Amino acid sequence: MVRRGGGVRVAAVTPAASTRTATAAAVVAVCLVTAPAAAAVAAAAATTSAAWSSIVTTGEMRVWHPVTLDIPRGPWASETARRNPFMTYRLTTTYTSADSGDRYVVPCFWAADGMAAHTGASAGSVWRCLFTPDAPGEWRWSMSFKQGPGVAVRTDGAGAPVRPFDGRTGSFVVGPSNNETAGGRDFRQKGRLRPVPGQRYMRFDNGDWFLKHGTDSPENFFGYREFDNTPKGRHLYGPHIMDWLPGDPTWGADHRGKGIIGALSYLASVGVNSVYAMPLTVGGDAKDTFPWVTERGVWRYDVSKLAQWDIVLDHMDAQGVALHFILSETENEELMERADRGVLGHGFSTSRRLYYRELIARFGHHQGIMWNLGEENGWKDGSGRGQYNTDWQRKVFLAHLAALEPYGALLSLHTFPADKERIFTPLLGDASALTGASLQVAGWPNVHNETLTWVLASREAAKPWVVSVDEIGGTGALPDAVTPDHHRERRDVLWGALTAGAAGVEWYNQAGDQSMEDFRGHANLWATTDRTLRLLRAQRVPFWAMDPADWVVQGRNNWALASPDIILVFLRWGGAATVRLAPSTAYAVGWFDPRLGAGVALEGARVIVTTTGGATRIGVAPRDARRDWALLVRRVGPVPTPSPPTPPSPPLPSSSAAPTPPPPLRVTPPAGPFSFYVVDPRSGVDVAGPLPPTGGSLHRAALPPGFSLRAAPQEGLPPPPLSPTTSIRGGAGGRGSVVWELNGQVVRVERVPPYLIAGDHRGTIYPWRAAPCGGAATIAARWGAGGDASTIHVTMVC
Ligand SMILES: *[C@@H]1O[C@H](CO)[C@@H](O)[C@H](O)[C@H]1NC(C)=O
Ligand SMILES: *[C@@H]1O[C@H](CO)[C@@H](O)[C@H](O)[C@H]1NC(C)=O
Repeated sequence: MVRRGGGVRVAAVTPAASTRTATAAAVVAVCLVTAPAAAAVAAAAATTSAAWSSIVTTGEMRVWHPVTLDIPRGPWASETARRNPFMTYRLTTTYTSADSGDRYVVPCFWAADGMAAHTGASAGSVWRCLFTPDAPGEWRWSMSFKQGPGVAVRTDGAGAPVRPFDGRTGSFVVGPSNNETAGGRDFRQKGRLRPVPGQRYMRFDNGDWFLKHGTDSPENFFGYREFDNTPKGRHLYGPHIMDWLPGDPTWGADHRGKGIIGALSYLASVGVNSVYAMPLTVGGDAKDTFPWVTERGVWRYDVSKLAQWDIVLDHMDAQGVALHFILSETENEELMERADRGVLGHGFSTSRRLYYRELIARFGHHQGIMWNLGEENGWKDGSGRGQYNTDWQRKVFLAHLAALEPYGALLSLHTFPADKERIFTPLLGDASALTGASLQVAGWPNVHNETLTWVLASREAAKPWVVSVDEIGGTGALPDAVTPDHHRERRDVLWGALTAGAAGVEWYNQAGDQSMEDFRGHANLWATTDRTLRLLRAQRVPFWAMDPADWVVQGRNNWALASPDIILVFLRWGGAATVRLAPSTAYAVGWFDPRLGAGVALEGARVIVTTTGGATRIGVAPRDARRDWALLVRRVGPVPTPSPPTPPSPPLPSSSAAPTPPPPLRVTPPAGPFSFYVVDPRSGVDVAGPLPPTGGSLHRAALPPGFSLRAAPQEGLPPPPLSPTTSIRGGAGGRGSVVWELNGQVVRVERVPPYLIAGDHRGTIYPWRAAPCGGAATIAARWGAGGDASTIHVTMVC
């Protein structure tokens, strides 16, 4: 519906006109959003018949590009008709891949005249299904179209068939991906962005892992006056009209939308890949955005306005910017329950079911979409008037969204800073359909700790969440004019989050949270963030296979993300780096200056070779040693077995001379026959050790999941005495058994090396599941019963 600038109204297109133009309209829309590169690709129309019963297929007909199924002459309806089209009909199409059998059940929607973004129509007879196939080949579809009072929100198949569409089937074929446009940013070349079960990060279908670099402000991104029926919109994004390029989309005969489209193009060009936006700010801070015909008219959606939002989302996919869609603001969490007579407080309103269905039907097909239940959800502002959802509501809302949303997109939730424990804890693990935690952290230096808390808590609950730091306290990130270097944002927030295993950050700016118009005001902030993400790409840092591991680096101000093969260290205040490394191993080390400046090449790169392993002093950065630095340590291989001494070679030119490795910091192993190492059972590699005899702590949560301990016989010590209780069956030369003791109790006997505290079988190392949680532990390994032992005293931290 058009209602701009005080009530200009474009006449609704008549039903007859709309049916004639529907096919053309769909094709036009496709071309508008993909031009210019895709203009050459003819939109395919599987059916061109204009018969009254026709169903028309349009789209690029390629994997990861949306395919539109239109019913051009379905039941005629109007936004404001007595018979509410949003509630009275339920159109759903099931798509099945002929090759894999994968099935998607997709809610569809009423599209007025089918080109409402351009015409402003509020009436018409076009019904539309948008689906994005994720595999090439044939897709078969089958349509269910029902009518009856309230059937839109029924899930039991209720309703009378809408003939002749209900039960119709068909198929189409989509080709392989085209990878040639938009410099690799285009999400339609990467596929859908979704969380990966068991992982902390999201990944595109093509295998690319995603780290979010977003803008959290303005939260009312869609409060844009050039959308239909957005009279109080605070935004025009005037400074970004110059970023709109010929061929970019607009809507309407008067070519609206250049400001918001240009803003997104600008953000994409500086590496921003996510935008936080609320479809509903009524009753909240900005009060300018709502998806309905009227501000609180929860039963009737504004089709032309939402079609214009969809054009913006198409542009976001093309530019590689995901939408972080925040479905409520803390002040309107209960708006739908309150608007729905007959629903008691803290229930689950029918109008909310409709809201979720309409949004998923219209926008769920986008490649880069992340759903977020709400901003500061559950916050009780203490006034008594504040709206808040309950644990029960969050669980049922999430379950409902998860069932409706066909593609497995992220389902996340944002809370008030002090509410994380209260709100997130009941949602951990299988207790809810939540797959992401969207953190608001008041004190910036707490970002690392709070991120770690939820990364670890969700992992412990056997369902790792995608944790991102989406809002920081106080003023948030100020413009470049005030803080040109963004040192604190980079140090405390960006690196604090990434090294704790966060899947990204979104930058909040308090002063601009409802009013930001010019994103260039934060150019240095985007550049700083992008610089770090480019480092990770350029150095091929496999962050998705790494775990938070602060214990591998010495110093309370230092953080690390690590796998057995690579360690990314961050020294907040510079200084010398001392990192725990495996023995007799070669590592490539190099420094990265995270401050704005040079490129992403590592500085001071060299190879070091460990002898005993354990805490190894790597030294200081090549310059500015008291500023923050990142250090990348990559295992390049075991040290080859020593060969006979070679004659001395002539000295190499100094430029290529291998620097002398600094002497490794030696940890004295415990007395007795063994040294102890922490082993990653997944790789079998030692990730720490030798452990010192006393005073060490094992931060269980920061260790590789399900770590184990290995007792290594110390070289040069005589073999164990054979005792009657020692089997000589195992091991070359029958070196006897190793008895593991925990606090004086025998917990395992190992007959063959490697001697692992929880055992191993044919190369599979069993995790030490029985490791104690909390408190001091005395761990001993002994040759046979009553033989010599080595003992360590550690503090177990869970
Ligand atoms: C597109 O890129 C992916 C990897 O990024 C590749 O696997 C695929 O084959 C490419 N498709 C085409 C059609 O080039
Ligand atoms: C976060 O900090 C608190 C307070 O210092 C501490 O008790 C807690 O263990 C820390 N959490 C993590 C995951 O390090």
